[in-house]
Amino acid sequence: MIHRRKFLQLGSLGLSSFSFPSFISSKSTAARRPIVISTWDAGIDANKAAWQVLRNGGRALDAVEQGVMVTESSQNCCVGLGANPDRDGFVTLDSCIMDENGNCGGVAFLERIKHPVSVARRVMEKTPHVLLVGAGAQQFAVEQGFPLEPQKLSPDAERSYKEWLKKSEYKPVINIENNANKKNQAAFAPAKLDNGEWNHDTIGMVAMDANGNLSGTCTTSGAGFKMRGRVGDSPIIGAGLFVDNEVGAATATGQGEDVIRICGSHLVVELMRQGLSPENACKKAVERIIKIKGSKAKDIQVGFIAINKQGEYGGYCIQKGFNFAVCYADDKNFLVDGKYVL
Ligand code: GLY
Repeated sequence: MIHRRKFLQLGSLGLSSFSFPSFISSKSTAARRPIVISTWDAGIDANKAAWQVLRNGGRALDAVEQGVMVTESSQNCCVGLGANPDRDGFVTLDSCIMDENGNCGGVAFLERIKHPVSVARRVMEKTPHVLLVGAGAQQFAVEQGFPLEPQKLSPDAERSYKEWLKKSEYKPVINIENNANKKNQAAFAPAKLDNGEWNHDTIGMVAMDANGNLSGTCTTSGAGFKMRGRVGDSPIIGAGLFVDNEVGAATATGQGEDVIRICGSHLVVELMRQGLSPENACKKAVERIIKIKGSKAKDIQVGFIAINKQGEYGGYCIQKGFNFAVCYADDKNFLVDGKYVL
């Protein structure tokens, strides 16, 4: 388990020396490239893998795929096959990816495949489509050579599911992606259904490479103990992720239904196009959700993160507890506490 406070200090990645292709001065958040940012404290390890690609002059698209694959592989994280199942006991995964040319692909309600991000990339690169779901997505993955993993819950997920089955109650757990909060397994277990609110398990990552090209991905197991067949924002281009190589890139985490409602990541990018900084664009998107939700906003969490074409970064969330990881050098990979509205 990772405690986010450990990462408030800059962490060395233990990598050898490197000449950065460019640094751009800015009065806002230090503008840099290459740069990669990702949601929650699991983003620290994901950024490390992404940085290995970026520091060697690799493409942002490869960086974000390699980055979130680390999180998808983790049995201790709430992303990937080790995550909590739906209420029928099956882990179902959602993911999308988008490159600097507006190419994009996604998969949703995908079962027994370890790396949905890589299947999403194949959808983008090998099909005329943007989104494949369920059995069709799995069939495509197998045809593409992805192994079908056993239908088996991780020990943590099995424990949580058994606990959840005792009451089968749905209660939202705000900021559950923050590993520091998972100590409370009793609180972790339930997810909410009775008023339409959910908990959630996501990593979103956006990056700019040394050539100034942007890409992003978002990958998740979705809300723990969700209704079977439920899909959130993460595989939906414009909601969980959006990239416009002229402007910037944004991704979302938290209650997907409310991100979809405002086309959240697309909104953040369009606000940056109008001149807002990444942080202010994220803030405006969060405020829009709060306006729609009214008094119910206090029961949910949504966080956005974004980078712009100048290499500035920022994030904002509904309420305290969200953080994101920022990496732009061998010895600069650190957590930032998201500013919040409520
Ligand atoms: N944001 C992830 C989900 O709601 O599924």
